Amino acid sequence: MPPVFRSLLFGFLALLVVLLIIDDIAEVEKESVGSDPSSRLSSSRSAETSLLRKTLFSPIRRKNILRFLDPERDISILKGTLKPGDIIHYVFDRQSTTNISENLYRLLPTASPMKNQYHRRCAIVGNSGILLNSSCGPEIDSHDFVIRCNLAPVEEYSQDVGRRTNLVTMNPSVVQRAFQDLVSDEWKDRFLQRLQNLSGSVLWIPAFMAKGGEERVEWALRLILVHTVDVRTAFPSLRLLHAVRGYWLTNNVHIKRPTTGLLMYTMATRFCEEIHLYGFWPFPLGPQGRPVKYHYYDTLKYEYTSSSSPHTMPLEFRTLSTLHRQGALRLHTGSCDLDRGAQKDLS
Ligand SMILES: *[C@@H]1O[C@H](CO)[C@@H](O)[C@H](O)[C@H]1NC(C)=O
Ligand SMILES: *[C@@H]1O[C@H](CO)[C@@H](O)[C@H](O)[C@H]1NC(C)=O
Ligand SMILES: *[C@@H]1O[C@H](CO)[C@@H](O)[C@H](O)[C@H]1NC(C)=O
Repeated sequence: MPPVFRSLLFGFLALLVVLLIIDDIAEVEKESVGSDPSSRLSSSRSAETSLLRKTLFSPIRRKNILRFLDPERDISILKGTLKPGDIIHYVFDRQSTTNISENLYRLLPTASPMKNQYHRRCAIVGNSGILLNSSCGPEIDSHDFVIRCNLAPVEEYSQDVGRRTNLVTMNPSVVQRAFQDLVSDEWKDRFLQRLQNLSGSVLWIPAFMAKGGEERVEWALRLILVHTVDVRTAFPSLRLLHAVRGYWLTNNVHIKRPTTGLLMYTMATRFCEEIHLYGFWPFPLGPQGRPVKYHYYDTLKYEYTSSSSPHTMPLEFRTLSTLHRQGALRLHTGSCDLDRGAQKDLS
């Protein structure tokens, strides 16, 4: 081939690649601007378009995620890579450090807790009050793998949120917020019972994100060891957060600090064929204009749109809604019983 043809051909291919990339990015960007979620959610598309989108986009997106992180690996630091006394710089507070304690070392997994796992239908349960009175419990429990966030209580709310838990996250601050820093034997018991009820699930503790939670993590780990609690502990890798942020950034979604829910979704793309999200609703009013609690189980308030909040939840939600419309995930925001009206709004 003459050189001039070769360079023409190369130029053409390069242009094609650039166009494809721009197209992929534009998909998310186009729909992630704008601020009124309810009007966006009710804009519907024809069934053909969404089927086309499903086949076209979801496999591509998932491969893209794999370019940024390997969830099977990044879901936890493994025992072989650290030893007691090693110094770790916090992900968000680089200048602060912590040491790997004996207890933490003992509870590091030797292999990825998600090694060789693949599930057909996964549910990720966020903690929004939108779940209250949803009757979604049985539907959530029918999934093959159920992920929950921040050790949210299930027993008292099982009708709406289900009970099944295969993986649950626990920010160190939960020990303070939901269990009073274990100040009394009663709180210690309650915390221990919550952990024991997890029987066999993965307990995912982001211990190295922000400074300040060191003691709380240590208390939890000590309880697990002393009472030989049946949980499989996991501690996310130090690169996970940057990788997830980087992935969304290339899709033009600028996320300051991904929420646990978004981290879980991003990782679940690796292990789950279908991903269903419940309890994601970062707005003070529901689709029908009724007030919605920030958490289904407590009275915490959250300013979703404040620039001082660490998370950009409405932006995340718009992004997830876009993926919902493209068929890459299912966002369930309505009731799960006969009245499925609100659910239809989303499709
Ligand atoms: C952390 O490790 C450093 C270096 O090994 C050591 O000097 C320091 O005492 C350790 N701190 C704690 C709290 O264990
Ligand atoms: C749930 O239903 C009960 C009984 O109908 C009602 O009292 C309560 O206000 C509802 N809660 C929410 C959050 O809608
Ligand atoms: C643990 O499970 C038992 C039995 O299902 C239940 O009665 C109890 O409320 C649960 N405790 C916690 C803290 O979730």
